[in-house]
Amino acid sequence: MSESFDDLIAQAQQKFAQAPDLATLENEKAKFLGKKGAVTELMKGLAQLEPEQKRQRGQQINQVKKQIEECLNQRRHEFAQAELNQRLAAETIDVSLPGRGRGMGGIHPVMQSWQRIEEIFRSIGFAVADGPEIETDWFNFTALNNPLNHPARSMQDTFYTEMQDDDQLPLLLRTHTSPMQVRYAQQHTPPIKVIAPGRTYRVDSDATHSPMFHQVEGLWVAKDISFADLKGVYSLFLKAFFETDDLQIRFRPSFFPFTEPSAEIDMMFSTGPNKGRWLEISGSGQVHPTVIRNFGLDPEEYIGFAFGSGIERLTMLRYGVNDLRQFYEGDLRFLQQFNR
Ligand code: PHE
Repeated sequence: MSESFDDLIAQAQQKFAQAPDLATLENEKAKFLGKKGAVTELMKGLAQLEPEQKRQRGQQINQVKKQIEECLNQRRHEFAQAELNQRLAAETIDVSLPGRGRGMGGIHPVMQSWQRIEEIFRSIGFAVADGPEIETDWFNFTALNNPLNHPARSMQDTFYTEMQDDDQLPLLLRTHTSPMQVRYAQQHTPPIKVIAPGRTYRVDSDATHSPMFHQVEGLWVAKDISFADLKGVYSLFLKAFFETDDLQIRFRPSFFPFTEPSAEIDMMFSTGPNKGRWLEISGSGQVHPTVIRNFGLDPEEYIGFAFGSGIERLTMLRYGVNDLRQFYEGDLRFLQQFNR
């Protein structure tokens, strides 16, 4: 091969080696192998040669072309390799980095109380029942001795829906869990011992009232029980719920249409920040004869005791929370405290 061919190869090799990146390399390639490149020009020169000379020189030029291509491919390969190495370096996983982990979910404090209440009452032989939150006027009021136009209805400011029941009265969001007394007693035979925890609704909103809140209803119907049994059960419940015997309980006369006599249950801690203060915790009473009749039972034969307590109220007292709205704001700083 002539010296000028060697020069050309050396020149290509040098230019390729000097190319700092792939784009420059491809530009340099055009200068040698492109349509107007040096090798192509040499090929064009073949046309004027004799056949024998043409064959020989043609072979030589092909040889040159091949070598230049080899140099090119090698350099291309170098660039590919460098790029790969760079990516590998950039994408390395730092196995020593601590994991992000997943936040652990927790049970809402009101639901924790709900669960505790069920546990405690189950342990003393009570069943747990569940009922509709959208109620008929009859179950929510009338069956509970609270007929249409009775002034006691205004004790519970009610959300009405636009749907009507069979009596053409608007369906409503139950204002208490007491309709469950009637629903359950109609379907079970005494003795009945049941609690019915659940959501309830009233048009009410301030630091101690939320439009949606939770109650737990309790009902005990039998032939041979007395107010003392209600008192005993409820006292046991409170002591178990607050995990202390250091509390006093009193039944203060009150009024509910569906109980007679009726009593507000108050409690007082003997220790702690609420020490010495009576706190209202539940409504209660002996089930009114009219309501017993609506159960489908004879009030001369059966006697019933009922209570209805606010689950938020119990939760606030248990944990010392003073604004009920905090339960529904979804602030994790507040909620996490109950799940440690
Ligand atoms: N349902 C009553 C209320 O929401 C509470 C209650 C229940 C009172 C059972 C007496 C008996 O205020």
